[in-house]
Amino acid sequence: MTPDPEASGTVRVQMAVNGRPVNAEISACTSLADFLRGELGLTGTHLGCEHGVCGACTLEVDGVAVRGCLMLAVQADGARVRTVEGLDDPLGRALKAAFVARNALQCGFCTPGMLATLHEAIGAGLAPERGAVRAALSGNFCRCTGYEAIVDAAMDVIRAREETADAR
Ligand code: FES
Ligand code: FES
Repeated sequence: MTPDPEASGTVRVQMAVNGRPVNAEISACTSLADFLRGELGLTGTHLGCEHGVCGACTLEVDGVAVRGCLMLAVQADGARVRTVEGLDDPLGRALKAAFVARNALQCGFCTPGMLATLHEAIGAGLAPERGAVRAALSGNFCRCTGYEAIVDAAMDVIRAREETADAR
């Protein structure tokens, strides 16, 4: 991150977003979510409460699920950022397929945040228990589904990963 003396209050940032290098000059107070949506057109990251409560803006920075509304874009300088658009590794694809198969979304507003949270948690070895899935998702609000189908989808993915591991 390099302050730009010609443009007061702006900074230059570099990061990898969904595997692609990004180099931009932005206002120092731009949130990461606003940067991704407004500057890069990655509108899959949703904004609900904009103060860290609803989880809709959850995305991954260096493999860790974070609130995009609470993190400044400059704080992601030099980082690897992954949004729902870039959730295309085997686990990400499995989660998306399971959400479709289990009808785990209705309006879809919460879905990118749910996927990012589950991607991090399952990737880190989340226990194959409904209670553990619910605890992992406790910071992600859904106003439509009643959560059961989301937990079903997560459990499908966890069990499939366990079966694959057992078969090795
Ligand atoms: S928009 Fe970030 S937590 Fe709600
Ligand atoms: S599917 Fe509508 S808020 Fe979750």
